[in-house]
Amino acid sequence: MSQPQGPRRILSGVQPSGKLHLGNYFGAVKQHIALQDEGVCFYFIADYHALTTIRDPQVLRENTFDVALDYLALGLDPNKAIFFRQSDVPEVTELAWILGTVTNMGLLERAVSYKEKVEKGIDASVGLFTYPVLMAADILIYRSHIVPVGKDQVQHIEMTQDMAGKFNRAYGDIFPIPTYRLDKESKVPGTDGQKMSKSYGNTIEIFAEGKALKKVVMSIVTDSSSVADPKDPSKCNVFALYSLFATDEEREGLAARYRAGGIGYGEAKAALLAKIDATFGPARERRKQLAARPDDVEDILRAGARRARAEAQQTMEVVRKAVGMKPRSVA
Ligand code: ADP
Ligand code: TRP
Repeated sequence: MSQPQGPRRILSGVQPSGKLHLGNYFGAVKQHIALQDEGVCFYFIADYHALTTIRDPQVLRENTFDVALDYLALGLDPNKAIFFRQSDVPEVTELAWILGTVTNMGLLERAVSYKEKVEKGIDASVGLFTYPVLMAADILIYRSHIVPVGKDQVQHIEMTQDMAGKFNRAYGDIFPIPTYRLDKESKVPGTDGQKMSKSYGNTIEIFAEGKALKKVVMSIVTDSSSVADPKDPSKCNVFALYSLFATDEEREGLAARYRAGGIGYGEAKAALLAKIDATFGPARERRKQLAARPDDVEDILRAGARRARAEAQQTMEVVRKAVGMKPRSVA
């Protein structure tokens, strides 16, 4: 059981927490989409987890639909990846309970993300505290091998390894021990030069366009050097963002012009804007088309959930038997 035969399983979850920005794209979504061809991918919208921070049902529904649109528009192929809503597989909460019984309080008490969220003013609910247990259940119920995540989630994967190990020692070799895979771009700068993040209000949204996008790009903070001055590309936020989109040649070309002087930040921003438009233009169109067909999006999520649930139910049969419960199929 612990080593399912066949291709390796890759899993990641995304919280439905608002509009995706360039940091999310280069830090996470782009890799998720590229991995579709490297194994069996399970990607889900973590709406159970989102309940720890979202109390408005309308907001939860809208955000969940938005993430689905974003991923599909950006190239997630539901024929390749299993794409679903976390809450459409309720078995995961059963596994979370069972894992909770082999999880030490001390392990959860060390969670940095919990402490940071409480410091930010999020309610210290039991759900927020046991968030890593549900996350471990997400990973283990699909017997995942690889979990692509950003740095902030690494501790949660280490906790998952701990829980899987403890469970296996108690009940037999049931779960593969998953490993994380760090997303490449770990720090995309925002318009103010700090890490781009919703919580800092410095984001450039992937699906912004036209005047609104232009306004944000033009607001990127730069130093006060004049057009003629030579500039250090490594110190410029516009250059850093441009580099994410550019080929090596294009990046070197712009760097040389910075060093030589004679290029103003306005021109560099216009070059960045053109790159953003060219990169996301087709995805914007796809997103608009999908947004007009909510029933089709729902069908995709439900079809994904059916595939995911079949896997989850299979795992739960083994888990229930291992701990001394009857299989679900026997009344
Ligand atoms: P935010 O900080 O805007 O709330 P999230 O914490 O929801 O973003 O991040 C979702 C995913 O995007 C995570 O995998 C995270 O590592 C990645 N990510 C977010 N911001 C950045 C950034 N500025 N640079 C690189 N990756 C990022
Ligand atoms: N906690 C993750 C985040 O905030 C989302 C998530 C939930 C997740 N379950 C997961 C990520 C399982 C990877 C694997 O980004």
